[in-house]
Order: sequence, then C-alpha cells, then structure tokens
Amino acid sequence: MNEELWTKVDKYLVSQLVPADDALSNALTASDAAGLPQINVAPNQGKLLTLLSKMMGATRILEIGTLGGYSTIWLARSLPSNGALISLELEPHHADVARANLENAGLDSLVEILVGPATTSLQELIDDGTEPFDFIFIDADKEGYPEYLALSLLLSRTGTVIVADNVVRDGEVVDANSSDSRVHGVRAFLEQAAANSRLDGTAVQTVGSKGYDGFALLLVTGTSL
Ligand code: SAH
Ligand code: DHB
Ligand code: MG
Repeated sequence: MNEELWTKVDKYLVSQLVPADDALSNALTASDAAGLPQINVAPNQGKLLTLLSKMMGATRILEIGTLGGYSTIWLARSLPSNGALISLELEPHHADVARANLENAGLDSLVEILVGPATTSLQELIDDGTEPFDFIFIDADKEGYPEYLALSLLLSRTGTVIVADNVVRDGEVVDANSSDSRVHGVRAFLEQAAANSRLDGTAVQTVGSKGYDGFALLLVTGTSL
C-alpha cells in the first residue's frame, strides 16, 4: 500500500466518475504558473464537495482558504443561479489568481473573495449580520481551525454542514506530543467539535493522489444563543 498505488486508483476513479474539464484543469495550470503550492483538493474530493452541497440544496456557501480557487470552482458549481459563495483568503496574490480562474470558469458572478486574515473577515461578516450559510468548507491554516469553527458557528443555522479538510495529516493527528503546530490546531478543532452540543459529526481518513489525510464532516444541530 503506497502513494503510487493510491494515485493510480485515484486516476482510475476520476477517469470513471469525474470527467476532465477545461475550467478546472486550466485553474490548476494557471495556479502552478503563478507559483501557488499544489495543495488544492483532489478532483474526486472536489466532486464530493459539490455533491454534498447539492444534496443539501445549499444556496449560500462559505469557504475559508481560497488558494487558486480550485475547490471554489467545485463548490460554486453546486449553486443555483441565485446562489452565493464567499471565500476568504489571506494572500492577495492567491486571491488574484483565484478571481481569474473563477472568471475563466464563468462563475465570477456567484463568488466574492474577501482578502485578509480569515478571523478578521469572519468577524466582519458576523458584525454585518450576514445571513447564515448552508455549507462551510474550512481549508486555511490549520492553526486557525479552532477559531474558524467557533466563528463559523456564529454564521450557521440548524442544518448547516461544515466540512474541514486535512484533519489526519499522515496520521500525525494521533500524536498529542507532535512538534507541528498544525497538528495541534486540528486536534483542538476536533476536541471543540466533540465538546459542542450544537454539533454532530464524524471524521474520515482518505488516501489518494494527495497522499494520506482526511476530512471532518459536521452538522449544526441547534441554534446559537
Ligand atoms: N481550498 C483550496 C486550498 C486552500 S490552501 C483548494 O482546495 O483549492 C490554504 C489557503 O489558505 C492558502 O491559499 C493560504 O494562503 C490561505 N490562508 C493561510 N492562512 C490564512 C489566514 N489566516 N486567513 C485566510 N487564509 C489563509
Ligand atoms: C496543506 C494545506 C492544505 O489545505 C492541504 O490540502 C494540504 C496541505 C499544508 O498546509 O501543508
Ligand atoms: Mg486542504
């Protein structure tokens, strides 16, 4: 069992169920050319995000961590024409690349990218009395996950679905003594999710073209106080 085999199987599964698509492959090519790291979700994970969002009929999506907009394209494609996606990104350069990729995908009218630290943007959305989101995808810096979860809950309603990427990190998540601050971010996120009576959830390990990792899937089951 190794990454070579996982990648081969991912290629096969994607070739069966996730048809190749110019907007998505151009987004990755442009992100690469612009020097962005290749830490976007895998195609079959992107498709999972679209499907989860469609299954729940989401019209309002929040994404934390845009990068070049690859996962943003997948998520925005689940939206009806009156839907909206807000994506939060720290790096202006990443946001520029993402905006071009979204325009190229014909999705720019549905998506707004807010540039700055996600905690600041989230607090602004809360202060503005922004309508709750149906679907929230957390995928920015792992150290920030606990705070992103707490703030996301203030932008949620009963029935909001929260997906958090990269909660396994090559299995390092079980190491309470890890020297990696990202591992501690993810562990605190999971503890917080478990302790919150407003949240029900699970986490699933994944292997594939992006290595060994996993995601958490949470359901908001009660209103905020
Ligand atoms: N969701 C993307 C990948 C996101 S990578 C995809 O799958 O295609 C993580 C992104 O989070 C990077 O672009 C990084 O710049 C951004 N980020 C890091 N720290 C952040 C912060 N404090 N606030 C907002 N975004 C942040
Ligand atoms: C990293 C971040 C991600 O969002 C991801 O999907 C993979 C890796 C990282 O920071 O290493
Ligand atoms: Mg990720």
